[in-house]
Amino acid sequence: MALHEGKQPAPHGGMNPLYVDNPALAAGVTLPHTRLGDDPLPADTALRLVRDELMLDGNARLNLATFVTTWMEPEADRLMAECVDKNMIDKDEYPQTAELERRCVTILADLWNAPDPTAVMGCSTTGSSEACMLAGMAFKRRWSKLGRTGRPNLVMGANVQVCWEKFCEYWEVEPRLVPMDGDRFHLTADEAVARCDENTIGVVAILGSTFDGSYEPVAEITAALDALQERTGLDIPVHVDGASGAMIAPFLDPDLVWDFRLPRVASINTSGHKYGLVYPGVGWAIWRDKAALPEELVFNVNYLGGDMPTFALNFSRPGAEVAAQYYTFVRLGRDGFRAVQQASRDVATYLATGIEALGPFTLLTRGDQLPVFAFTVKPDAGYTVFDVSRRLRERGWLVPAYTFPENRTDLAVLRIVVRNGFTRDLADLLLADLGRAVSEGIVTAPASGTAFHH
Ligand SMILES: Cc1ncc(COP(=O)(O)O)c(C=O)c1O
Repeated sequence: MALHEGKQPAPHGGMNPLYVDNPALAAGVTLPHTRLGDDPLPADTALRLVRDELMLDGNARLNLATFVTTWMEPEADRLMAECVDKNMIDKDEYPQTAELERRCVTILADLWNAPDPTAVMGCSTTGSSEACMLAGMAFKRRWSKLGRTGRPNLVMGANVQVCWEKFCEYWEVEPRLVPMDGDRFHLTADEAVARCDENTIGVVAILGSTFDGSYEPVAEITAALDALQERTGLDIPVHVDGASGAMIAPFLDPDLVWDFRLPRVASINTSGHKYGLVYPGVGWAIWRDKAALPEELVFNVNYLGGDMPTFALNFSRPGAEVAAQYYTFVRLGRDGFRAVQQASRDVATYLATGIEALGPFTLLTRGDQLPVFAFTVKPDAGYTVFDVSRRLRERGWLVPAYTFPENRTDLAVLRIVVRNGFTRDLADLLLADLGRAVSEGIVTAPASGTAFHH
């Protein structure tokens, strides 16, 4: 611990004239790292010191690694600031925020073609991870009520986001991961069914894979499970992890059948803070009807003197994100969402095509499902994806490089996530920087890392 951590040492040398009206800064106060400072600081001084330190963070808008919203309109900023003090769990005290949450659930159920959007069970969460935990818990409870005795398992592709591996670890479920194989980078119907047995609590299908943005074939998976049921009597439900794709496909791929139109789809999640276009902190989980969500998991909280069902891991949670989600629904409507998501897909496919044309790169996907694509470096390039990532970082672009999971750990890729606000102009600048790096030669680092976690 520094000796005067958080304290205001006596001024030494002359006083900085720019700080004459701020004695703490003039005295060279330092930020506490390990223990609270003894004295309070004026608000503007504390703000300045903390804000200055945060300059070291990357620029969120240039972060092409994240799926999470990095730009909202000033009106949304204002609304969120106004709601930041509301606790989502206080349904009785903030009944109108609770009502907006209820409306969002029904709107999403309608968007995902629930047979009766007013009869679904659904809730907001902190993100898709919490939503996936809840969906997994519902699966596990449904299975345990069947009276089976073996160890429960969950079937999914090795490309699942880490939240599913966490779910299996935390809730003691065996993860049955279908490995990647050759050019197959996600789950297929045959591979899923081959791993199902009487202790399979469910199958997870991802609309769109975190690794490369590709959609898994949900309808083929449910059809194969229908056939399995006919053959064996096993009735295995499907959860669609639509963290990103559940807010893309309804607008851009209306003919793709992946949602509650498939009777075997029991539940769907999405991240409001990804292509739901809200800042971090909101996700959604929806079950097709009451029967899909075992009732013991639902708790009742007081609401306008009555009871309101809730299902969540958290208790307190900010209300601002839910208000902002409703704002995006009101603001954009179906046509607005379609236009925003199409703009992202157009930029993604444009950028992917441009990168392919540079020469040394091979596309794994083209950004035409999620506006996300992965590409690799040709074997004779003389540098690796990790070198490219580092070189782009020198210009401020955050483009992650990572190795694929078991069975394809030989494959390392770069991935670009195009989000609302990433314009064609920015895409051109990135292309120019990448082109310049390629023509000037990319220096190979002595040791390459793989430290990117999905
Ligand atoms: C397919 C998928 N599922 C779940 C998650 C976790 O989402 P969240 O960050 O909202 O918890 C992600 C995040 O990238 C994802 O891509």
